[in-house]
Formats: sequence, structure tokens, C-alpha cells
Amino acid sequence: MNARITCFNNLQDKMKNHTLVIRTCRKQDTEEIVTLWEACNLIVPWNDPRKDILIKLNFQPDLFLVGTMDEKVIATAMVGYEGHRGWVNYLAVSPDHQKMGIGRKLMEEAALKLKALGCPKFNVQVRTSNTAVIEFYKKVGFSDDNVIGLGMHL
Ligand SMILES: CC(C)(COP(=O)(O)OP(=O)(O)OC[C@H]1O[C@@H](n2cnc3c(N)ncnc32)[C@H](O)[C@@H]1OP(=O)(O)O)[C@@H](O)C(=O)NCCC(=O)NCCS
Repeated sequence: MNARITCFNNLQDKMKNHTLVIRTCRKQDTEEIVTLWEACNLIVPWNDPRKDILIKLNFQPDLFLVGTMDEKVIATAMVGYEGHRGWVNYLAVSPDHQKMGIGRKLMEEAALKLKALGCPKFNVQVRTSNTAVIEFYKKVGFSDDNVIGLGMHL
């Protein structure tokens, strides 16, 4: 499903005539996505972003969302559902387009897609030090589950 969404009034004046399009990711978006993730400081030494994109394009690709404006990728949300919970990784909005409601629209679209699959709950893991992002998630409806996120590299 490709959702076409017109920008909202809370966008800055310079953006008010532009349209935000949220659609599924395509392979040809790869380099723009890597540039976006670099700008958002989402790239870490232990993850290869191009490999991560390629893997996701072959695993639940309908849940890999990009937001575009004027045909340019300005946002991403890599969503997944493992049969019990939905998850989001690589949520990013280009620094030039932040605080305009785009992150919220992406998360709403992700939640709709998860609900359509029967997913009852949407989870996210955030570094405890990343207080700004925690504030964003609270604003868009998430609350603290009081759990510790644990992980193991395979
Ligand atoms: C987190 C991120 C996706 C938010 O996207 P965004 O498009 O700027 O968010 P929105 O404009 O939709 O904001 C929705 C609400 O959250 C609030 N919010 C957004 N960023 C915030 C911040 N840094 N601190 C506090 N509140 C914030 C907004 O003010 C808005 O509140 P409102 O509805 O009361 O007006 C974006 O800042 C980003 O890409 N950050 C870098 C990458 C990152 O850290 N990703 C998350 C990894 S877990």
C-alpha cells in the first residue's frame, strides 16, 4: 500500500507547498537512505547500512517505509513484525525536515501497517542517554515499559 499524504499546516512556511509521500522502500533508494542515516548519526561501525537495506528489501519489504518530498528520500522507518510485537529501527527524518510532524506521520503509517497484520503492540528500543528521542516517542503515543533492553550479536 502506498499512502500519499499532503503536508500539514504545522510545516514551516518554506515547506507548505510540498507534499510528503510515504511509500515502501525501493532498491534504488539505497544511496539516498545511506546519506540520510549518516546525517542522522544512525550509522554505527558494527552495522553495514547497505547490507541492512538489502536484507530488509528481502524480508517484510512492505514494512520498510520511506518518506519522500519532491522525489527525494527525507525519512525512513524500518518496521518489522515477528508474530508477537512490532518493532521499528532506523527511524530517521532529515535534519532539514525535523520538527514538522514527519516522524509522527511515519510512525502512524507504520502502526496502521502493523495493525493490518494483526500486531497488538508496537515496541522500540532507544538508548537511555537519547532523552530527546524518548521525548519524541512519548509525544507520538509510546510509554515507558520499564524493561531493560538486552541484546546479543549473532
Ligand atoms: C526522532 C526523529 C525521527 C523525530 O522526527 P520529527 O519529524 O522531527 O518528529 P515530529 O516533528 O513528527 O515530532 C512529533 C512530536 O515530537 C516532538 N519532538 C520531535 N523531536 C523532538 C526532540 N528532539 N525533543 C523533544 N521533542 C521532540 C515534536 O515537538 C512533536 O511534538 P508535538 O506533537 O507536541 O508538536 C528525528 O528527530 C530524527 O530523525 N532524529 C535522528 C535519528 C534518531 O535518533 N532516530 C531514532 C532512533 S531510536
